[in-house]
Amino acid sequence: MEICTTKAAIRAQLRDWRAQGRRVVLVPTMGYLHAGHLALVQCARDDAGAEGRVVASIFVNPTQFGPTEDLATYPRDTARDTAMLRAAGVDALFLPEVAEIYTPDAQTVVETTELARILIGKLRPGHFRGVATVVTKFFNIIQPDAACFGEKDYQQLAVIRTMVRDLDIPVEVIGVPTVREPDGLALSSRNVRLAPEDRAAAPVLNAALVQAEALAQDGVTASRIRSHVRATLESEPRADVQSVDIRDADTLATVSGPLAAPAVLLLAVRFGAVLLIDNRVIAPAPPSHPKEETP
Ligand code: PAJ
Repeated sequence: MEICTTKAAIRAQLRDWRAQGRRVVLVPTMGYLHAGHLALVQCARDDAGAEGRVVASIFVNPTQFGPTEDLATYPRDTARDTAMLRAAGVDALFLPEVAEIYTPDAQTVVETTELARILIGKLRPGHFRGVATVVTKFFNIIQPDAACFGEKDYQQLAVIRTMVRDLDIPVEVIGVPTVREPDGLALSSRNVRLAPEDRAAAPVLNAALVQAEALAQDGVTASRIRSHVRATLESEPRADVQSVDIRDADTLATVSGPLAAPAVLLLAVRFGAVLLIDNRVIAPAPPSHPKEETP
């Protein structure tokens, strides 16, 4: 595995691979890798094929963290990450310092104007501008044919798909299903910062998502699903519920009434200082099922 810390080095490597006609698939990360990241690498490996090349990046992107957020304490372990990526069959790792990516007088940003302001964007103003800008920069530096992103960060995936469509960026965006612990907790680099009692309580997110799916199958309305889910989350005293939303699975537009099309339930819950997010796409009730709720 080639390790490149400068734009010039990774571009030189990519120039060679492109000249050889190889497909290149990118997996952008902020490091402190877990099995969720490795599922993205595996997906990239499969998509690239034997002749293709997989590039991973590790960059804790300062512009997507708010002034009071956890940039300084974001977990890091480059030696371990490097070994994991090498073992997973990554061909090149782009590992730049902040100064290699951002010049102090940079004045250009990428923003999905509507998507960046709703849901997580409301809780974390500026977050998706930082994500969209750094992902655009990585797309321009590496110029991959495709890039893999987790469905775990559902709104982030929607932001990237939208920006790629709106700006005609020639990169195929591949969404990868969420990898979970045996008790249902979605893997996240932030899970290590949960207090033991919070770690024990955190599977309530997945339990609430599974409950919502069953309710939707019974024809329960979006607003009732939402209140059931909120009650389930609030029954866990350590959970500080930040948001519970049901949106159209494609557009993230608000939905009401019985579900008519696939919807996504999005949760943001704080445990101590750690903000956990999770989501599940829920199918509407099958057509034969009565749509009315019994009183
Ligand atoms: P990071 O949080 O490191 O996540 C990198 C990628 O791994 C994202 O696409 C994320 O959705 C995916 N991922 C995280 N947990 C996952 C899980 N349990 N199952 C499947 N995939 C999972 O997301 C970022 O970094 C950054 O915002 C980034 C896109 C790199 C831009 O800075």
